[in-house]
Amino acid sequence: MNDISDRRNRPDLDAFWMPFTANRQFKAEPRLLVGAKGMYYRTEDGREIIDGAAGLWCVNAGHGREEIAAAVGQQLLTLDYAPSFQMGHPLAFDFATALAKLAPAGLDRVFFTNSGSESVDTALKIALAYHRARGEGQRTRLIGREKGYHGVGFGGISVGGLVNNRRAFLTLPGADHLRHTHDPERNAFSRGQPAHGAERAEDLERLIALHGAETIAAVIVEPVAGSAGVLPPPVGYLERLRALCTKHGILLIFDEVITGFGRLGAPFASQVFGVTPDLMTTAKGLTNGTFPMGAVFASRGVHDAMMQGPQNAMELFHGYTYSGHPAACAAGLATLEIYRREALLSRATELGPAWEAAIHGLRDCPHVIDIRNLGLMAAIELSPRPDAPGARGYEVLVGALKAGALVRTTGDTIALSPPLIVSAAEIEHLVAILRAVLRALP
Ligand SMILES: Cc1ncc(COP(=O)(O)O)c(C=O)c1O
Repeated sequence: MNDISDRRNRPDLDAFWMPFTANRQFKAEPRLLVGAKGMYYRTEDGREIIDGAAGLWCVNAGHGREEIAAAVGQQLLTLDYAPSFQMGHPLAFDFATALAKLAPAGLDRVFFTNSGSESVDTALKIALAYHRARGEGQRTRLIGREKGYHGVGFGGISVGGLVNNRRAFLTLPGADHLRHTHDPERNAFSRGQPAHGAERAEDLERLIALHGAETIAAVIVEPVAGSAGVLPPPVGYLERLRALCTKHGILLIFDEVITGFGRLGAPFASQVFGVTPDLMTTAKGLTNGTFPMGAVFASRGVHDAMMQGPQNAMELFHGYTYSGHPAACAAGLATLEIYRREALLSRATELGPAWEAAIHGLRDCPHVIDIRNLGLMAAIELSPRPDAPGARGYEVLVGALKAGALVRTTGDTIALSPPLIVSAAEIEHLVAILRAVLRALP
């Protein structure tokens, strides 16, 4: 990038300790975005880059939406901040009501947070508090899944299953894991949900046999694992997990931080799969990525079980200074209106076949060992270079950027999730760039 960058306007890069970034590598060869509109970012050297990642799985309605900017600006001048502890403001109630209408039937109680990580930790805490309120305070174990990503809080990394996010840190003692469902030997190049692997939901029975159902509070999974490299659930898997949780009185949490708000062709993945969890975590597309905000959806049963005790007692000792922030709610309401007006939450269903055909068209490119897709998500897995795992993935990230596309890579897997406004022609454009980049890989 150095040769094509205009260093005169570049900021001093030293002070910002960048998250989930190889800081020294980045600062030696920075990649700076300075503007965005619709499907495109603009780089510091003035090039247009198609957004193949919706930013970071969040800008579902595309960039630079004026209605959101106007709503936030207006709100900051009307009521810039109001506490949500023992006080309220109308917009938080309006936004929660609008979200409850979109939610899967029954999940109509909404707790606001500021991020996906906070949504996850909030849901885990609600699960523990729920069991305690019902006299089952011994249910303290939390079950996640290998390869799961649930953000970076201590709760989230404890149920998460990506080793690099865990090994340097403390994790909660009560956490355990189901096996992941990645099974390339049987499922490589599946289109949509893979056929094999529903039996891995039976791992929950094994953990129950090991620990005792009466010690387990909740199971949390991403309906489609995102950060691990887009792993759609095997046919029948989520249904089986739901049945086992119900049978044993364990709460089922779907982490829909990525899959929420239209990524799979319905507002939420649980509606696509016809499986309803007890708690659902969201963030990202909630405000189209414009404002840091998350929301946890709780079933009426979970919520009502907590609404006990004296009227003047707080039911849940949990919340954030910015829970239900007025400007975030304004951004969220404006976002929902765009989703409704432009029918974006079902767009992945219409575009799905064209997306699937285009992505699987990369099958013959060098190093490709698997391609997976569902809704407007996809992953292209490359064989790692034997002496340098992850190097090919990084080369694709840098090569695609040079060629005009932002994609996301984890290890040697390329993950794609364009804004839901993407056109068929833009899908072809994105895939053509990837094809050229893959063909040029050493
Ligand atoms: C499934 C899932 N849960 C939680 C998170 C964490 O969200 P945040 O980065 O907003 O804390 C992410 C982020 O990518 C995610 O994909």
